Amino acid sequence: MTAAIVGIGAALPEKTVPNSYFTSRLDTSDEWIRKRTGIAERRFLAEDGHLADLAVAASRQALRTAGRAAADVHHIVVATTTPDRVTPGLAVEVATRLGMPRAAAFDLHAACAGFVYALDHASALIESGRAKAVLVCGAEALTRITDRTDRSTAVLLGDGAGAVLLADVARAPAPCFSLGSDGERIPLLYADRHDRVLRMDGPEIFVHAVEKMSAATRRVLGRQELAPEEIDLFVAHQANARIVRAVAKELGVPAERVFLNVDRVANTSSASIPIALAQAWEEGLLSGSGLLGVAAFGAGITWGAGVVGWRLGEL
Ligand code: ACO
Repeated sequence: MTAAIVGIGAALPEKTVPNSYFTSRLDTSDEWIRKRTGIAERRFLAEDGHLADLAVAASRQALRTAGRAAADVHHIVVATTTPDRVTPGLAVEVATRLGMPRAAAFDLHAACAGFVYALDHASALIESGRAKAVLVCGAEALTRITDRTDRSTAVLLGDGAGAVLLADVARAPAPCFSLGSDGERIPLLYADRHDRVLRMDGPEIFVHAVEKMSAATRRVLGRQELAPEEIDLFVAHQANARIVRAVAKELGVPAERVFLNVDRVANTSSASIPIALAQAWEEGLLSGSGLLGVAAFGAGITWGAGVVGWRLGEL
């Protein structure tokens, strides 16, 4: 059994928020935000908006592009740190609204690395024969835990959801993942229970992000005996264009194989990789079949990287 991506979808909130929203409120500038992060705009979920609506829309598109019926998929994992309720998580509601009766459904919290952790889990279910297909969704409304008066975090974050359908595909390249965490670094990036607001040491996180994503990707390439040029598309967590470019440079992944959409959506945490995949797919970069490289890092700190094949038809 070999897992590969056979469907992709994404859904963004309607409200587009350009950098000018912050420049009129905070001591920052459009030039600083673009130059230091690559971000031009992001989407905000409405105060009374439901993240589950975006997760359902993204998942439905992933099923549709795969040409699969929801009723034939019996597992769903939603990577999120900002679900609509304390309990239950998003996954059970999404499964029911999609029409996946009695599916195994759970949320996974590994901060911004959650989607890569979820992909690893889903691949293992397929490889072990326990599942034929698994819906993997990343959905976040980071604005729910953002201090809009803190210029060092507020300008970086956005909301959205993305999803992929992973399924058993004959003759696909074997997926491989390397995951890790380091709880000694919690003070670098965290939100406490009492105020539920993200606090971050950006420059320190930057350094660890480049180091951990590069090392994890290198481990995966080594294990699979792959050269960086054999990755057809590299989609890293869209935290900051400079971080993604630095990782690609460190690894020797050619610039034209590195996908960036942080300019349009900012950092959407565990939703960022599948949202980027959906945009890459729309731009024709994921037609047919190929090998995808992914890498992410987040609070914890947590990190992960992997390679997984894709096989996508035309709509
Ligand atoms: N506008 C203007 N100045 C700012 C802003 C802003 N929006 N934000 C921070 N600064 C200032 C800081 O106060 C600091 O000022 P100081 O030197 O006077 O103390 C200075 O900019 C730091 O600037 P740089 O040296 O350019 O810092 P850097 O190049 O590291 O860029 C940034 C800062 C963009 C935050 C970068 O470090 C980064 O992207 N870090 C990683 C962020 C991240 O990915 N976080 C994890 C995701 S969040 C999550 O997990 C949910």
